[in-house]
Amino acid sequence: MLKKFLKNCKKPEGKFGKWVVSAMNKGHAPLALWAFEVCPLKDGESVLDVGCGGGGNLVRILERFPQSRADGIDYSEESVACSRKATKKYADRCGILCGDAMRLPYREETYDRAVSFESIYFWPDPVRGLKEIYRVLKKGGKVMLASEMTDPEKGKFWAKRCEGMTIYTEEQLAAFLGKAGFSDVKIHKTRKVWCVVEGIKP
Ligand SMILES: C[S@@+](CC[C@H](N)C(=O)[O-])C[C@H]1O[C@@H](n2cnc3c(N)ncnc32)[C@H](O)[C@@H]1O
Repeated sequence: MLKKFLKNCKKPEGKFGKWVVSAMNKGHAPLALWAFEVCPLKDGESVLDVGCGGGGNLVRILERFPQSRADGIDYSEESVACSRKATKKYADRCGILCGDAMRLPYREETYDRAVSFESIYFWPDPVRGLKEIYRVLKKGGKVMLASEMTDPEKGKFWAKRCEGMTIYTEEQLAAFLGKAGFSDVKIHKTRKVWCVVEGIKP
């Protein structure tokens, strides 16, 4: 059951995947609220959510920032369907695409901000994904990654049960941002293992 759950965290599919994305919308809310507190967005900024899952964070952004556009991308059709449903009311300033973080289908310098919650664990090449985010951000744009898991010991437990899942420490995430070209990289931590890592495209 745990394996099935993790498989659907990696890529939600079918009925069970649908249940997992809606559970994540609720379960990840405390992390998201803290992340937006330590790394606040401004109204009017355009935002991309990479690995947007059920769209809970897109709704949070769109509700709070009426002048902002917020788009989402996810490679799971189930996540995309759930995000589209959740953000229906804001369709004029929100677009959800089905696509891979490794090859973002957006033009260079499109967004002011990029966010990604609980998704980088599953990316086959995190630096490649972050380079893609760098490409689609405007100069001076900011990226923010939020993770609930940063403990390598506990990471082994999860990674054993979910093929292709890797838990990164906050220092590893910060190093990935540096490798992708970001500067002013900052780490925020709370509850021992939650982290937000942010960086700016110079
Ligand atoms: C644990 S869920 C988190 C969802 C959402 N961000 C949240 O916090 O509730 C991880 C999401 O990342 C997506 N994902 C994983 N790898 C991806 C990739 N390479 N490209 C796009 N989406 C990806 C999964 O499909 C899933 O919806």
